[in-house]
This record gives sequence, C-alpha cells and structure tokens, in this order.
Amino acid sequence: MTGAPIVRLGARILSSGLDYLDWLSGDAFIKPNAHVGEPVGIGIVGCGFVADFYAASLASHPELAIKAAFDLDRSRAERLIARTGGTVCADLDQLLGDPAVSIIVNLTNPTSHAQVTRAALEAGKHVYSEKPLALDLGEASALVDLAKARGVLLGCAPCTALGDTAQAVHKAIKRGDIGTPRLVYAELDDGPIHKMQPWEWASPQGTPWPWQDELKTGCTLEHAGYHLSWMVMMFGPIVTVSGFSRLVAPDKTLPEGDKLNLGSDFSVGCLTFSSGVTARLTCSTVAPHDHRFRVIGDEGEIFTDACWNMDAPVWLRRFSTLGLRAETYPVVQRIGLLRRLFGLDGRLSDMRPRPPWRGRFRRHHIDYALGIADLARAMQTGRQPALSGENALHVTAALLAIDRAGSGAEVIPSPTVQGPAS
Ligand SMILES: NC(=O)c1ccc[n+]([C@@H]2O[C@H](COP(=O)([O-])OP(=O)(O)OC[C@H]3O[C@@H](n4cnc5c(N)ncnc54)[C@H](O)[C@@H]3O)[C@@H](O)[C@H]2O)c1
Repeated sequence: MTGAPIVRLGARILSSGLDYLDWLSGDAFIKPNAHVGEPVGIGIVGCGFVADFYAASLASHPELAIKAAFDLDRSRAERLIARTGGTVCADLDQLLGDPAVSIIVNLTNPTSHAQVTRAALEAGKHVYSEKPLALDLGEASALVDLAKARGVLLGCAPCTALGDTAQAVHKAIKRGDIGTPRLVYAELDDGPIHKMQPWEWASPQGTPWPWQDELKTGCTLEHAGYHLSWMVMMFGPIVTVSGFSRLVAPDKTLPEGDKLNLGSDFSVGCLTFSSGVTARLTCSTVAPHDHRFRVIGDEGEIFTDACWNMDAPVWLRRFSTLGLRAETYPVVQRIGLLRRLFGLDGRLSDMRPRPPWRGRFRRHHIDYALGIADLARAMQTGRQPALSGENALHVTAALLAIDRAGSGAEVIPSPTVQGPAS
C-alpha cells in the first residue's frame, strides 16, 4: 500500500518523459520549402483532428495555400482559418463556388467522404480525399467515373507511400538487395487503445481525437490502406484477396461503450500481387503496438518498424546459412549480443532516410500535404496524380473484402472435445 503513491509518481514522471520526446522531435520546426509563383488554392472540408496536422504540413508547402474552409461545426472552421487565413464558409456550396479554390481537401469522417467528394467533383473541383475513398465499392467506383467525366483529378490518402521510408524500401527491392521478393508480413497493430484513455487525446491545437468514430469505423477501414498502398506501389495490382475480420473485444470499457456500434478490432488479409508476391496483413486495436513492414526475398529481408514515420530507418538483413540456423535457438533470439553476432537484426540500408537529429525521436511523422502537392503538380503538367482515384478504388476493394469477410466457416461441433476448464 505504502508503495502505491511512489509507483503513481514514477508513472507520471515516465509519462512526462514521453511528452518531452514529442517536444524534442520538433515537428513544429519544419522549414518552408523555397517556392516562386502563385500558390494553388485549397479548400478544406472537415476541420477536425487531422485537419490540424494538414494545416501544419501545408505551412511548409508554399506552393499550396488554404483559401477557405467549411465544417458542419462552424467553430472548428473558424479556429482553423484563424491560424491559416482565408474564408470561413457558411455551407459547402459557398466553398465549392469560391473561384480561389482549385482543390477540395476532404477531411470529413469516413461516412461523409463519398457525399462531399461527389459534390466537389460535380462542381468541377479537383479533389484530394482522406481514406477510405468511400465505404461502398459501387460509390467509390462512381466517384472515379465522375472525376473522369468532369475532366478533373481525384486523389486519395494515405500519402505515406510517397515518403522517404517507403521509397527507400522500394528502391532497395528494385536494386535486388533481397533477391526476388516472395513474401510480405505487414502489421498495423495500434495497441489496445481503449486502455489508453483515447478520450483525452488531442491535436497540438486541442482538437479531440475522434475515438468513437475510429472504433465504429474499425481497424481495417481506418488502417489497412497504409500498408496496402505500399504493396501496390512495390508489387503491382492485387490479384486475389482472402480475409478474416472480427470484433474480438466487444466488451471494451468505454465511457460511452453501451451506445457504440463497434467495428472490427482485428483482421487478417492474405493477398497475391501481379508480380507474384504474396502478403499477409494484420490490423488490430487490441494487440500491442506493432507497425512493422517486412519484405522477404530469396537472399534476405528488408524491413522498417514505423510505417507512420516517413523517415523511419530501413534495415537490410542478408540471409546466411549460419544466421538462419542460429536463430532457431531461443537463447540466440533472446540475447542482443548473440543476435548481432549472427546478423539477425541486419544493418541499416544505405537507401534509408537520414532525418535531422530531432527526427530520430519521432513516433509519427507524416507530411500530410505531400499527396496534395503531387495532385497540384499533376494539374499543372496534365498527368494523373501518383495517389490516383483508380489506385484508391483498387485498395478500397481489397480492404472492404477483408473487412466484410467475417470470421470464417463454422466448424462442426465435436462431442468429445472439451471446453476450457473452469
Ligand atoms: N484521426 C487521425 O489520427 C487520422 C489520421 C489520418 C487520417 N485520418 C482520417 O481523416 C478523416 C477525418 O478524421 P479526423 O480525425 O479529423 O475526424 P474528426 O471527427 O476529428 O473531424 C472530422 C470533421 O469533419 C466534419 N464533418 C463531418 N461531415 C461533414 C460534412 N458533410 N461537411 C462538413 N464537415 C463535416 C466534422 O464536423 C468534424 O469536425 C477520417 O477519414 C480519418 O480516417 C484520421
């Protein structure tokens, strides 16, 4: 009993230490890129949690400028525009009618994505949408067709495939560092967030994290697109997908637990790609945090452990008979010195990003404006954006297939197999 206050004090000190790491990583110190010429006008629809991060990223892209914003909650649009400059719009029509706005950035909740994107395309605006493109495949496909029919561009998040880490992995594979790639193991375990008091999380500007919406949408629709878009970039179109998806912890203790219609909190997808590569992707909001992306080839494996950090280190392990045999011994696996001696952890790839020293402390680091900047260049040069609507439709088809797969066929009950002992 007497130890409890000391334990609580220790936990508080450790927690403040983690906050200090956030400060030390210094995302607030992003330097603007040099740019000459008139910036492309952006209109933001949906000024919630993620809009604060978009606004921070856009500040380091002088080729883009927020001109107007609209949110169903006007106070949110006012807060955003107070920081960025521009017009607070009374409704979506006012924003879509603003001639200073060329690209609509759709940062609404997933249930509003299709409706807002459709209105913007119909108004003749280019659109960059947060993921998923839509919650229904027919709707997603109709949006791609509409963009084509109107002669405007449609792009979709996530943009992490354009970041230095994903590009480094891709280049190393193309250079042949791991021989022929065969298999991908990708994890997007976000930790049991219901045990991490997500109702207290907020952006640096104080906008609360929409934990109810995230848990209702479910881990697959929210997160599978990150790794899937890397895989499509590296290995080509998806040929087959088989999925499994389930709400494994329906009894989460939540402040509004009773009223929430929770989405799946665990899923696995197995996929094959046109290049012949096979992948297993796991998402959850139950298992402890794990954001690894591993590509295994004939000669070795290349991996990174932080897919939400655009300049996370990239590691290359070349296989050797001795190393492959050594790792079958648990004692070698457990002792860091032995792991290094047998080369089990690999070495840093020469392709890896080299962030400034502050960057090494980062947990997450995404330049959210990268996809919009590419779409703006695509507008000016008459090409499709790298994160095109077609690509997003393809990824959406796979993630909907995994999310809707359910939990498999029932097994015939056996009278002789016992339940767990009580
Ligand atoms: N939260 C994150 O960490 C995160 C990270 C990356 C991407 N995203 C994605 O970004 C999107 C937004 O997420 P968020 O965290 O900012 O959610 P949020 O709930 O904090 O903000 C969404 C905002 O959109 C507004 N909105 C909803 N429908 C609207 C409509 N029809 N017209 C105008 N405004 C409308 C809401 O009032 C709200 O202010 C989601 O698609 C999410 O998947 C979220």
